[in-house]
Formats: sequence, C-alpha cells, structure tokens
Amino acid sequence: MSVLRGKSIVLGLTGGIAIYKSAPLLRRLTRDLGCDVTVVMTSSAQEFMTPLIFETFSGKEVITGMFESESGIVGTRHIDIIQRADLVAVIPATANILGKITAGIADDALSTMLLVAEPEKTIIAPAMNKNMYLNTVVQRNLQQLRELKYHIIEPETGELATAEEGWGIGRLPDEKTLIFHLEKAISAQKKSPLARKRILITGGPTREAIDDIRFISNPSTGKMGIALAETAAKAGAFVNYISGPTTLPDPTGCKTQYVVTAEEMKAAVLDLYKDQDIVVMAAAVEDIRPINPSEGKLKKDKIPESLSLKKTDDILLQLGKNKKDQILVGFSVEVENEVTNSISKMEKKNLDWIIVNNPREKGSAFATDTNQVTIINKKHKAHSLPLQSKVDIAEAIWQTITKSKD
Ligand SMILES: Cc1cc2nc3c(=O)[nH]c(=O)nc-3n(C[C@H](O)[C@H](O)[C@H](O)COP(=O)(O)O)c2cc1C
Repeated sequence: MSVLRGKSIVLGLTGGIAIYKSAPLLRRLTRDLGCDVTVVMTSSAQEFMTPLIFETFSGKEVITGMFESESGIVGTRHIDIIQRADLVAVIPATANILGKITAGIADDALSTMLLVAEPEKTIIAPAMNKNMYLNTVVQRNLQQLRELKYHIIEPETGELATAEEGWGIGRLPDEKTLIFHLEKAISAQKKSPLARKRILITGGPTREAIDDIRFISNPSTGKMGIALAETAAKAGAFVNYISGPTTLPDPTGCKTQYVVTAEEMKAAVLDLYKDQDIVVMAAAVEDIRPINPSEGKLKKDKIPESLSLKKTDDILLQLGKNKKDQILVGFSVEVENEVTNSISKMEKKNLDWIIVNNPREKGSAFATDTNQVTIINKKHKAHSLPLQSKVDIAEAIWQTITKSKD
C-alpha cells in the first residue's frame, strides 16, 4: 500500500507549461490514493489553467491569492495549512519560484507558504526551457535548495514544449516518477531502516547463447527485482540494480545496469559486492550454457541434434564465500519440498535469508504481477506470505529482513 494513502498535501502550481500534467497528478492523489490536497496557484499559473479543474479534482477551494477567500475568512491560513500538511509539493516549479525561495521572498500566497514549510517536507519539481534551466543563476539556486535539504525532483531530458525548443533538459518527469518522489519524501520522514543503505539487487533472466540468434533462458521478466529495487529506493536506499534482458522500463530512482549472460551478471555483481550493506539476488541466473556457441546464425540443417552443456558459475555461492558484513539474500525456485530444499541451499551458500517461490502455484514466480513466497531465516524459521502484488511482497521482504537478522 502506498505510504501516501490518506496524507495531507499542499500542491503548489506555478506558471509553467508543464502545469497541464498537474491535473492528472492531482486526480491520482485524491481519487486513487485518498490524499487530502489543498491546491495553491500563483497568478501566472492561473493564466495557463483555471482553478476550476483543480477545485473539482481536490474537492476544495483553490487558494489563488494571499488575501482572497471564498468564505471571506483569510486569517493565518498560510501558516495553518502548511503546519497541518505532511508534504508541500511545487509541481511544476518555475525558475521564478526557485529564485523566490532562495531569496526568501514572500510576495504571494504560494511563496509565503513556502517560507513557512520546512525544507524536509517540501518537494520542488523544476520544469522549464533548457536555456532557463541551464542558466547559471537557476543552477546556483537549485544547488542552494539541495544544500538546504529541499527534495528536488530533477527534470528529464527529452522533447520540450514546442518544436522550436526541440530536445533538451527541463521536462517535468512522468506521473509515476512524481509519485515515486512524493512517496520517497514521506518515507524519509518515517526514517526507514533502509535509509542511506547501499543495496545491490539483481533481477530478470540471463541468456546463454547457442548461436548469435538462439539462446537458452527462462521465463523471468524482472518484475520481482524491479519491485524490490523501487521499494528500497523509495525508502531512501542507494540502489544498484543489475538486470538481465527485459522489456520493462528501468526501476525509478535506481542506478541500473544491464547484462546478458550469467558470466556478465557475475562480473557486474562482484564488482559492486564489497561496498554493499544488503545484496538480494532475485535474478533467475541460467544454470547451464552451451559449451561452444556458434557464430552467426546456424542454418537449419546444421543445427546439432544435441548440445554440449556446461554449468554456469554459481554467483550466490561465490558471494557467500566472500561475505564480510553484507546481509546476503537469495531467491530460490522450487516446485516441491520448497522449504527443505531452500534450507540446504541457504546452508551451502552461506546466506542470511532465502526466499522461495513456486511457479506451480497460481499467480506465483515468473512473469506475474503477483507472488506467493516463504521467507526463511538462518535459524530455519519459515514465514509464508499470502499471494499479493510483487510490490507488497517486496515491502514485506524489506520489513522482515531489516527487523532482525535472525
Ligand atoms: C507560454 C509560456 C510558457 C512558460 N513556461 C515556463 C516554464 O515552463 N517554466 C518557467 O520557469 N517559466 C515559464 N514561463 C515564464 C513564467 O510564467 C514567468 O516567469 C512567471 O513570472 C512565473 O510566475 P510564477 O513563478 O509566480 O508562477 C512561461 C511563460 C509563458 C508565457
């Protein structure tokens, strides 16, 4: 369940072209996540969109001026509303509002409210033309805001608002990324045990070549690995995610690296291993590979009747041998005697935890959005979780392994 559920949010809107993306964002916050959102618009923002749409989606009066109110009562609402809020988010944030915050200017409702809000609960999503964004003064202001501990949602590089502006940095990220950052800011307030931890996660399959076109692989898609990576990043961890081939987008907020073979996966994992606090191997690393892959594409009549195979290196076994202070977590796929078989793997590979899933169970393991797992600790205590979304499974795994080492 999202940490945003039921939260009280102040959404500040400024006069940038990306304001059109704030309407669906507001709808998602209020309708899907049950947030209580108060919208505050600058007078420039009202030139781009009228308050009516935001009033409809928030179910409340939109604050459009320092001294105006539908009820006629203004009072010190600029203080009360901010003090009651869990988060204050300026999406989109113009170059102008960045300048006002850094200079301490409070000449309208939004800038005044932003002076009341603590930086730790304030999120700012700058969006503007690339020349404005790269302007030295704007960059200096942003750097100051980062140093003051404001949460900055960095803009993306891509197509800008008009054909003349073309391609460049300054785009407001998509809704999923904006929600990710709002959730991350709430998690930071709760001081998750994952905050500032260095975590390495692997996901997806590997491919072992028969020739340049054909390969041996398995049905893993990377959904479990991505769910683990995004939930850890949201909780404030520094996440390195190493993925086998997948068609899914990169997990938000993580450093992602792609590999193809088990050998490449092993090299990438070993390269990062010694600096990690927690390592979770959720990738379905292929256990076998053809000994002599052919170059090019084998003609049909040249395809051999049988292939000579070799086992790939067991990455987890190697990690267990090299283990220092890392918490080492393995995933295991078993179709029978799940717990007993997983316990012997855990012993053999010197793991701290093993998580077993069974692809024979409906909605579990490969290529599904859900999973049903059993988490086993070093003392062989097994804890089964009910079938639920991979995101919820990921959160339950983090909760379990950070609560106790045994
Ligand atoms: C069509 C148009 C688009 C604009 N888009 C942006 C923008 O994306 N980002 C930005 O920082 N300013 C943009 N501006 C400039 C701001 O609207 C202007 O600086 C304004 O004073 C900002 O006021 P505010 O920060 O109080 O909302 C745009 C102006 C116009 C006319």
